[in-house]
Amino acid sequence: NWNMGDFIDDQIDAIHAEVGDKQVLLGLSGGVDSSVVAALLHKAIGEQLTCIFVDHGLLRKNEADQVMESLNGRLGVKIIKVNAADRFLGDLKGVTDPEQKRKIIGRDFIEVFNDEARKLHGIEYLAQGTLYTDVVESGTDTAQTIKSHHNVGGLPKDLKFKLIEPLNKLFKDEARELGERLGLPHDLVWRQPFPGPGLGIRVLGEVTNDKLEIVRESDWVLRDEIAKAGLQEKIWQYFTVLPGFRSVGVMGDGRTYDYTIAIRAITSIDGMTADFARIDWDVLQKISARIVNEVAHVNRVVYDITSKPPATVEWE
Ligand code: XMP
Repeated sequence: NWNMGDFIDDQIDAIHAEVGDKQVLLGLSGGVDSSVVAALLHKAIGEQLTCIFVDHGLLRKNEADQVMESLNGRLGVKIIKVNAADRFLGDLKGVTDPEQKRKIIGRDFIEVFNDEARKLHGIEYLAQGTLYTDVVESGTDTAQTIKSHHNVGGLPKDLKFKLIEPLNKLFKDEARELGERLGLPHDLVWRQPFPGPGLGIRVLGEVTNDKLEIVRESDWVLRDEIAKAGLQEKIWQYFTVLPGFRSVGVMGDGRTYDYTIAIRAITSIDGMTADFARIDWDVLQKISARIVNEVAHVNRVVYDITSKPPATVEWE
């Protein structure tokens, strides 16, 4: 007999008992779990919580603003936002190998976070948005062996924190319910999964600002049409990918030679296996027409009809 109100009260008591008047640090990723921890800790200890939000420039359109607006603007959570886009893009310059890209993004993320953390003084605790499933699955995550996943972690030895993980008894849907109870907006809390390396692994091969822009804008159109069709909570994950090759098209009376955008939309329980979503042709047609019309340098849209396995959800 699960009761969210009691859970919040119990957690607040437990956090007070553990933390006392000490300072707590939290890495905000823009995702659901860290946002919910931020909201919970803020309710429990207010100003004793400091969040670091590393914007790696690989987030979706409006995502950073939405996180700042909901957590800092509306709830008053103290957030240090680090704009590190230039650093990430600089380090990714000329790199085309997917694993190499993942490692660079993961490494930069940790370094930027740690640099900021070192500037703060008197922090004793590090909070993390670990869920029950993360605890259970750690060590048996086969995805880990296929692609190097990254999340905030890997603290250097000079930064010694005690860990607090207030969500580690919760499943994802419970964490979401908790987030809504704590005043986070519905669409933030029910946001689809988004990988740590972000759009950096949806621009295949070398990541450039121009290519990021194409993925970001086409993803924005896709999300808008999926929402208009009322499908956002029916499809587990949906996004666009820029494979990076160009093909011939015709627009008006002119020949075009431009990029292809691929749409990936899947149904899944946990991301370990997946099937492509049977989106209505008419919805796909609208998405395709809008992407070609509204996103510069795209003249063709294709739909990925592969399940996982053998394909993975992300293309890199
Ligand atoms: P794949 O591509 O491995 O993706 O089939 C399975 C699920 O994991 C997400 N994903 C990640 N999540 N850090 C994350 O937190 C990562 O590095 C990462 N790579 C993939 C992917 O979006 C899908 O939901």
